[in-house]
Amino acid sequence: MSQVENHILVIFGALGDLTKRKLIPSIFQLKKHGMLPEKFAIIGTGRREHSHETFRQRMEEALNEFSEDKSLDKTQVKEFISSLYFTVMDFTKDADYLTLKKKLAEVQKSLDIGGNVIFYLATPPSLYGVIPIDLAKHRMNDQSDGWKKIIIEKPFGYDLQSAKELNAKLLKHYKEEQIYRIDHYLGKETVQNIFVTRFANGIFEPLWNRNYVHHVEITSAENIGVENRGGYYDDSGALRDMIQNHLLQVTGIIAMEPPTSFESNAIRNETLKVFQALRKINPAEVGKNVIRGQYGTATVRGEKLVGYREENGVKKDSRTETYVAIKMFIDNWRWGGVPFYIRTGKRLPTRVTEAVIHFKPTPHQIFGTKEAVNDSCNQLVIRIQPDEGILLKIGMKTPGSGYSIQPVNMDFHYSELRNETIPSAYQRLIHDCMIGDSTLFARADAVEACWTFVQPIIDVWKEN
Ligand code: BG6
Repeated sequence: MSQVENHILVIFGALGDLTKRKLIPSIFQLKKHGMLPEKFAIIGTGRREHSHETFRQRMEEALNEFSEDKSLDKTQVKEFISSLYFTVMDFTKDADYLTLKKKLAEVQKSLDIGGNVIFYLATPPSLYGVIPIDLAKHRMNDQSDGWKKIIIEKPFGYDLQSAKELNAKLLKHYKEEQIYRIDHYLGKETVQNIFVTRFANGIFEPLWNRNYVHHVEITSAENIGVENRGGYYDDSGALRDMIQNHLLQVTGIIAMEPPTSFESNAIRNETLKVFQALRKINPAEVGKNVIRGQYGTATVRGEKLVGYREENGVKKDSRTETYVAIKMFIDNWRWGGVPFYIRTGKRLPTRVTEAVIHFKPTPHQIFGTKEAVNDSCNQLVIRIQPDEGILLKIGMKTPGSGYSIQPVNMDFHYSELRNETIPSAYQRLIHDCMIGDSTLFARADAVEACWTFVQPIIDVWKEN
């Protein structure tokens, strides 16, 4: 594993939900596993006044509440917490960037850390085109004393046009290698395992094409509703929130050509080609190939749950989709004619994210197997979450006379591999950024190619 160089991590939006739920617990895990550099500090910034002490207290509470460890090592927590600092900021105020710059210099000097800095934008998306530019204005993107990187959360852009504009803005002041666009699905262990399943096993690759695959299904079903994010979600919807990024990225890995090496750009060049080969759905066909829905009121296991339009922050007459299913094709040599079905939704009966490769049936049925049985065999299921693992569904002879066939599973569960928990996506991605590995981050051209695919759907829905 590459060594992480000493650096400071600046979090914009350090008083927000993402910081306390994901970032701080994940960075603490890095500390616990000895994956942070010798000299490291976090400067949190936010709109409300806090002293270093009150910020530290707040983050300690967050650790206690959201860390994946049941019991935390008190000495480690203490040490970790003491590396946190805070500075209040209005992200739209010029003077506050000067204050940040001063604070950064102070901490760098007092801890002798050097000039490497990661700027993490855990803020509303409207600030993605503001903060990096203001940092550059105050020369905080200057790499003469050490590297500077920025991490940007999704959604990256609101549509194709805004994504292009945002990329152009950022690329004026930062090189592509300095920009880390997070897609937390790529940080999931099971998503990375798709690379290994495909490219480390000789048995699957020969079958991984139009000759043997009948269709592919990629599903991300959630049983929760929009929770407390109604305001954001109502302007976004499932297409922007899940399909444009997470599910298309998973599609990219399932469908890509084998890269020549496991090097960041070699991989991302191949997933890009998949996004570029997605057949554009023409407006007349959107109604046929794309389905949208919205959850209503329901009683689930005795609990009365409000419908989407009753959620906080959601308009009473909202037409925002909480469910989308798309039938799509990848127009290239490998996948010509193979339908890919991708779907996602909130408040569905179960929580599962998985990719299912449905292989073609045998060309001639000699056992007179029932169609229903045939349909549930011949599948490779890549279970992304929960119960992470892989299973192969095949038909076996039911013991006894005759040849009746029943589907059985050959399955592997990650939980059987070792006792440790699977590292969180954020833990993996933040560490990758620290060591400068952008393999699992979305490149500018890929983000734009994915928007290019979903844009016609957005346009038709807007009119209808
Ligand atoms: C986020 C979406 O990116 O992913 C959420 O904004 C969604 O709406 C979440 O709930 C799903 O992530 P996971 O890891 O729980 O599948």
